[in-house]
Amino acid sequence: MYQLINGFEFAKEERRKLKEEIDKMEKKPVLAVILVGENPASQIYVRNKEKACEEVGIKSRVYRIKECLQVELLAIIDQLNKDEDVDGILVQLPLPEGMEEQTVIQAIDPNKDVDGFHPVNLGKLMLGLEGPVACTPKGCLKLIKSVKENLTGLNALVIGRSNIVGKPMAQLLLKENCTVTIAHSKTVNLPELCKQADIVVAAVGKPKFVQKEWVKDGAIVIDVGINRLEDGKLCGDVDFENVAEKCFAITPVPKGVGPMTIAMLLENTLYLHKK
Ligand code: GUN
Repeated sequence: MYQLINGFEFAKEERRKLKEEIDKMEKKPVLAVILVGENPASQIYVRNKEKACEEVGIKSRVYRIKECLQVELLAIIDQLNKDEDVDGILVQLPLPEGMEEQTVIQAIDPNKDVDGFHPVNLGKLMLGLEGPVACTPKGCLKLIKSVKENLTGLNALVIGRSNIVGKPMAQLLLKENCTVTIAHSKTVNLPELCKQADIVVAAVGKPKFVQKEWVKDGAIVIDVGINRLEDGKLCGDVDFENVAEKCFAITPVPKGVGPMTIAMLLENTLYLHKK
C-alpha cells in the first residue's frame, strides 16, 4: 500500500509553527504582492497568498493593477525596494503580454526576492550558498523528505525545465546527493528514463501525463501539475488513479504540492524579515 503525502496537513502544521514564531515578534514581517492583469488563476493564487499571510500574522500589501506600463511596474518595485518596512516582494507570474519577465524579476532587490527567482538567488542555489529558494521546489523537497530522510544516491527525475520549478528542483535534489536527470519536451525515451527513477517530480502542465507503466516500483512521485479538466475538476501531471499503486509515496492533486508552495512563501517572508 502506498503512502499518500498529505501536503494540506503538512502545510497546515508548517503554518502553525510559523504563526507561533511570528506571534512572539513585536515587528511583524511584511510581504508585498503585485498582481498585474486579470488572469483568473493568478487572481485566485494571490487571494490565497493574502489569506495565508493573514492567518500567520504576516502583513501583506497587495497591489492589484488591471493594466499598466512596464516602466510603471518597475517604479512600484523600486519604491518597495527602498521601503524599509517591506521584507519581501512578489510579482505574480505570468505577466501580461508585452512585459519582459526577466527585466521585472531583476528589478527586485535580491534581498527582498521572496520567490528566489532573481539570478543572484538562483546563482546562490547553484553554488550551494544560503538564500531564498523558490517556493514550489522547496515545498516539494520537504514533502519528499517527510517520507524519506536520506536521498543520497537515489535517481531523481525532474520532468520540466522551467526556471520556477524544474531547474531549482534539480539543484535541490543534487544538493541532497541524488543523481539528477532533467527531462523536457525534447527528451527521447522518457518512459525508460522514468523507469530508472526512485524519485519523480512532474512539472509539465499536461494532465495525467505520467503513466503507470513508466513508474518504478516503490518510487516517490511528486505531482506539481494543476490542470483543469473539461468537467471542471482539477488533476495533476500524474495519472494518480493508476500510478499510485506502484509508489512508495505519492502526492495528490489537489491537497499536495499546492498548499506547500504557499507555506514556503510564508517561510521565505519570515526568513527575509529575520535577515
Ligand atoms: N506563478 C506561478 N507560480 C508562481 C510563484 O511561485 N511565484 C510567482 N511570483 N508567480 C507564480
